[in-house]
Amino acid sequence: MRIVVTGAAGFIGSNFVRLLCQDAGHEVVAFDALTYAGNRHNLDGVLPPERIVQGDVRHPAEVRGVLEGADVVVHMAAESHVDRSIQGALPFVETNVVGMQVMLDVAREVGIRRFVAVSTDEVYGSLGPEGSFTESSPVAPNSPYAASKAAGDLLALAAHHTFGLPIIVTRCGNNFGPYQFPEKLIPLTILRAMRREPIPVYGDGSNVRDWIHVEDHCRAILRVLEAGVPGRVYNIGGGGERSNVEVVRAILKLLGAPESLIRFVPDRLGHDFRYAIDSTRLQTELGWERRWSFEEGLADTVRWYQTQEQWWRTVLSGEYRAYVAKQYGVVGG
Ligand code: NAD
Ligand code: TYD
Repeated sequence: MRIVVTGAAGFIGSNFVRLLCQDAGHEVVAFDALTYAGNRHNLDGVLPPERIVQGDVRHPAEVRGVLEGADVVVHMAAESHVDRSIQGALPFVETNVVGMQVMLDVAREVGIRRFVAVSTDEVYGSLGPEGSFTESSPVAPNSPYAASKAAGDLLALAAHHTFGLPIIVTRCGNNFGPYQFPEKLIPLTILRAMRREPIPVYGDGSNVRDWIHVEDHCRAILRVLEAGVPGRVYNIGGGGERSNVEVVRAILKLLGAPESLIRFVPDRLGHDFRYAIDSTRLQTELGWERRWSFEEGLADTVRWYQTQEQWWRTVLSGEYRAYVAKQYGVVGG
């Protein structure tokens, strides 16, 4: 089976390709524009260079070039960082909405047999202290990132309804693990704590996310790919709820770094208070269970960043900073 994974050089994409390649029966092709978040080296030793195609989901000819002859698509390419979407939403609309439609059109044209659209719990908006998102919760996104992902999901489901395209949508909570770009809370905190640099916590740190180890997310996507029902949405996650300040304190403890590194900084605009996922459907219909506890996964992730200095020094290098400064007018990391 020939499987095309878009966004395969990013965080979740590269972990997913690693998982897929454990089964020699799969012919995997990685498709990625290699933006600031995409790193060819994330696939070193996993895929030969000829299986890594640099291309942009916004460009139909490039997408056609890689989808022709493919059986299955796992579409993960996206602009993925909420703070960047607040600074400028246009790249999010272009990649997450226009890019999705290009993927759908070409998938229909070439007769793709299964198309998994990887999405996020953030499309459901924000929760108060109680309750959790089910697949029938209203889609009510708040950030430009979440709105662009919701638009993409709805276009994908519309392609199923209208044309019978075999679409399955997954919506997962906050991931953490190896190869995550250090602009997101967990890797940013680990790298700053390792270097004893101040750690910015937005607002009072009470916002809650439902954390999941990336390997558990990838196993869920694989299960959905194998047995999910087209036209359906599957939530992924549950059981990993922590406030941001709890997450930061846990990392500081693992690294023996002082809590005095924490800096409470002005809150993110429109900051969603809480996400929590009900993944009963995935568990009961497809038999998925998470394997990592939050604590074990976090300790494993901290160890990974401690031993992968060359990786994070490269992604934080001048080239990346120059790209970010040009593209977004900010310096990340
Ligand atoms: P990431 O930012 O690490 O990777 C995104 C990848 O997409 C990068 O390799 C980038 O080069 C590529 N890309 C961006 N624009 C592209 C374009 N126009 N054409 C082709 N490739 C392009 O993101 P991630 O955290 O790995 O997220 C992957 C997917 O999972 C996204 O769709 C995201 O919305 C979704 N998701 C992420 C999380 C999370 O916690 N990280 C949670 C739920 C869902
Ligand atoms: P993030 O990793 O950006 O993921 P998302 O916004 O998609 O949930 O942020 C996770 C949480 O951590 C979110 O509530 C914002 C907060 N946060 C901080 O407090 N400080 C930071 O430096 C970052 C990047 C995030």
